[in-house]
Amino acid sequence: MVKIFIDSADIDEIKQAYAWGIADGVTTNPSLLKKAVDKRKKKGQKLNLKTYINEILKVAKGTPVSLEVTETTAAGMIKQGKALYKMFNKVAKNVYIKIPINPAFKNSDSTHFDGIIAIKALSKAKIPTNCTLIFTPEQALLAAKAGASFVSPFAGRVDDFIRVNNKIKVDKTAYYPSIGMTKSKKVLEDNGIYSGTDLVWRCVQILRNYNFKTQVLAASLRNTRQVRECGFSGAHIATLPLFVIQDMLKHQKTYEGMKGFTKDIVPAYVALTK
Ligand code: G3P
Repeated sequence: MVKIFIDSADIDEIKQAYAWGIADGVTTNPSLLKKAVDKRKKKGQKLNLKTYINEILKVAKGTPVSLEVTETTAAGMIKQGKALYKMFNKVAKNVYIKIPINPAFKNSDSTHFDGIIAIKALSKAKIPTNCTLIFTPEQALLAAKAGASFVSPFAGRVDDFIRVNNKIKVDKTAYYPSIGMTKSKKVLEDNGIYSGTDLVWRCVQILRNYNFKTQVLAASLRNTRQVRECGFSGAHIATLPLFVIQDMLKHQKTYEGMKGFTKDIVPAYVALTK
């Protein structure tokens, strides 16, 4: 079954997703945490980050919560990953350390393999990891080989990238076809990847071929059709913003059906259970 994680660091959103009974985990990242912190600052609320994260972990008890490192060297990520795990895993035993697949900022940097080294070290220390910022199946393969528990391909950002590279207007939440798009008879792609959900599918295939235990956590999903296609692809997990989870239940004909059935209610039938 495809698991649904809530992609948010906002405790209210996380509580809501768990209250609906559909959340199987939480993913956070530095940008999501900033958004949650800024929202509270704007409201004039004081925030103790440690207490706040503890609360997230407690709400999600029994399901994984990814906390991302901010260091960018292997030694730094290992140290920070171990410290985060030590500080927070005791709360509800559900912490996964999120490590970027490649923490370099440009080609000439020397830190390209530091993410892999960090994943390997954390996995040796029995600390589960979620390898993030995956944009190719070969990155997923290396992360899986290093022992990542999850690999997170960023579907929506692939679609953004293909659109930008081909001068197509970027509407972040608009559906981009799984099979890709053509322009002037040319199939648009990023090095053989036709869309974000195509990337997810290819990550699933490459790991499945070699029976890796690593699970594919489809990330950067911004509409319900992407979720559907992740389900078709066999992705283990889809992490979703709250609005996408909400949108998954909506359909005009469902509302129409409800109106019709409600109009036809036989009072004696209702009375049976009163
Ligand atoms: O889980 C990754 C996600 O938060 C990134 O999403 O929409 O910023 O590409 P997005």
